[in-house]
Amino acid sequence: MSNPVSEMRRRRTFAIISHPDAGKTTLTEKLLLFGGAIQMAGSVKSRKAARHATSDWMALEKERGISVTSSVMQFPYSGKVVNLLDTPGHADFSEDTYRVLTAVDSALMVIDCAKGVEERTIKLMEVCRLRDTPIMTFINKLDREGRAPIELLDEVESVLGIACTPITWPIGMGSRLKGVYHLLLDEVHIFEPGKNFTRQDSTIFKGLDDPALRARIGDEAWRELNDELELVRGASHAFSQEEYLAGQLTPVFFGSAVNNFGVQLLLDFFVEHAPPPKSHATTTRTVSADEPRMSGFVFKIQANMDPMHRDRVAFMRICSGTFNGGMKALHARTGKEMKLANALSFMASDREIVDQAFAGDVIGIHNHGTISIGDTFSEGELLSFTGIPNFAPELFRRARLKDPLKMKQLQKGLAQLSEEGATQFFRPLMSNDLILGAVGVLQFDVVAYRLKDEYGVECAFENVGVVTARWVHCANAKKLEEFREKAAQNLAIDAAGELVYLAPSRVNLQLTEERWPDVRFAATREHA
Ligand code: G4P
Repeated sequence: MSNPVSEMRRRRTFAIISHPDAGKTTLTEKLLLFGGAIQMAGSVKSRKAARHATSDWMALEKERGISVTSSVMQFPYSGKVVNLLDTPGHADFSEDTYRVLTAVDSALMVIDCAKGVEERTIKLMEVCRLRDTPIMTFINKLDREGRAPIELLDEVESVLGIACTPITWPIGMGSRLKGVYHLLLDEVHIFEPGKNFTRQDSTIFKGLDDPALRARIGDEAWRELNDELELVRGASHAFSQEEYLAGQLTPVFFGSAVNNFGVQLLLDFFVEHAPPPKSHATTTRTVSADEPRMSGFVFKIQANMDPMHRDRVAFMRICSGTFNGGMKALHARTGKEMKLANALSFMASDREIVDQAFAGDVIGIHNHGTISIGDTFSEGELLSFTGIPNFAPELFRRARLKDPLKMKQLQKGLAQLSEEGATQFFRPLMSNDLILGAVGVLQFDVVAYRLKDEYGVECAFENVGVVTARWVHCANAKKLEEFREKAAQNLAIDAAGELVYLAPSRVNLQLTEERWPDVRFAATREHA
């Protein structure tokens, strides 16, 4: 019998945040290779290749079964169990990408050394900020010419507002790349394309004074390295585990994912320093990860392969205790007991039926629409986790029906698809429009396709003058009523019946917030 508490402590559950093309897929593959999940690594690549070939939803549809599998990748490494949660990135970027970050204990930020901090990374980092998620940083593509390392660290510090502690430091870059120096281990790892997979496979020098090192990298590179290190040691923050865990400081690694270079140094440091499962707040109390009774929350719902069966997989992050296949658990939203049969685990290369899972793990539960995002399952005691929000969409479209008689089906379809969480649906107070909001543009094509395929409704999406949404709260009922009247033009009701302000511009939102100081405009909404 495994000990649930020691199993929990071995878990390292994280996600990779990056801008498209920074190297997330390549790095994921390399991490899986280190974990021995080689077959899986191939499928990550081929999935992406298929996705790149077309932005057509039909192709995505075919990929759906696979993407369920690779949504969570579990592998053992160095006595730990690593759970890597995929953050959908290119065409499949959606609100799910943000919500995955509520189910991890830490994140790994990948930055392209030529491009620095990019827009998508900034947004994902904002989401991590909401929970002070600890972040490690990998600066990738060192085999190509990029920007000066010090300049990159400055940019991370100033744009993302997080202190940087370099753990490795590059020796040259692009065609002059010689290796990296590990500041804590006091070791130089030489860059050798086609090698570097493991320590045994790498040339390593201890310290900087070995004449053989100097001969290997050349006098000029050696002197430059010593000068840079003096500067770096003087100017950067010393590594502090507490500040890292508080999300205030990020350890930084340099490397080249495609060449395996610097990846194992990152992974070794990650399993040692990244946090095990943390405690989670519920509406009544905080649940500690070492509690014996099972609890968990659903952060993602995915429609399954066969649309005719409306079968869905709910992804549940386990927060405490042991999940045993077929166990019964309380479903907080309905208050009923539910048997969690045929739950899926995501071990190595295949998804398989799970017997046991521990805090930090993610399991997939089949259901026919009874489970929603944000739902809690718990053993014995009725609990309801908080902090699994909806995020304000950034793109909005008005649904235009081809056949006006199909209004009912359209409403039902939009409501059901928004329950899966990739899109949100709003009904303005002052018109009969149906407005769809998303954070990734392909989601509109996905919804149009699925409405036709699963609900028999043909519908187009046209532009509408909305740039962002805010959920409206006001403790003063009279003020709220006044606001409802005065701002009715821009107010709508979301799928959960909550009042939402649909802002026609950023300036308008700012002015409205200033004009109504008693009203709170929230960029996220907790699931009821
Ligand atoms: P993503 O998931 O973040 O979008 O990035 P992905 O790993 O797909 O990498 C984007 C491109 O960058 C890929 O090239 C990949 O091979 C390349 N890449 C990743 N790591 C490195 C690196 O360390 N050095 C260099 N030079 N390139 C790297 P591609 O041409 O788009 O795809 P492919 O033809 O290589 O598959």
